[in-house]
Amino acid sequence: MAIHSPSDRIWWNKPIEKMELIWIGIAFCWGLFMFCAMIWWHIYGEQNLSNETYKTTPELFESRTEAMVEAYTVREEGDTGIPVVHPPAGSDVYLLARRWEFYPILELDMGQSYRIHMSSTDWQHGFSLQPTNINLQIHPGYEMVLTITPDSSGVFNIVCNEFCGIGHHQMLGRIHVVE
Ligand code: CUA
Repeated sequence: MAIHSPSDRIWWNKPIEKMELIWIGIAFCWGLFMFCAMIWWHIYGEQNLSNETYKTTPELFESRTEAMVEAYTVREEGDTGIPVVHPPAGSDVYLLARRWEFYPILELDMGQSYRIHMSSTDWQHGFSLQPTNINLQIHPGYEMVLTITPDSSGVFNIVCNEFCGIGHHQMLGRIHVVE
């Protein structure tokens, strides 16, 4: 309720001015264009990974990750001795996000394809692969599967880009791609 009542009692029932109509039309067309662009960009923009998602549980995902780590660990890295896993080309690879690490470190062969499964065992984390523009949200209870073929060698860092608590800024991971 306004402090003063309007001087013109039927201000809400006046015809719309032409200039205002033009702007409404422009805004509507722009909205329509952006809506179509969203669909177009999803297909042709090469930035969104079309991925598969399945239901899982933290226990199941953790046991599959551990089985892979046990079978294919080649060395350990860093102060905490995080395992570096070199899974066979073409295999299912598990990458687990949890407070506050990505586990394990992966070592992949350039030019080979892998099915990377990702899930969280506690709550939501983000997956950002540096320096490429690959960003995903990692949720507990769901596993994302990406089929990837690394086309350049080197060290790729993983950054958690979803705030996940006090250790969020230290939540990093690594993928080695070797020739
Ligand atoms: Cu995990 Cu931020």
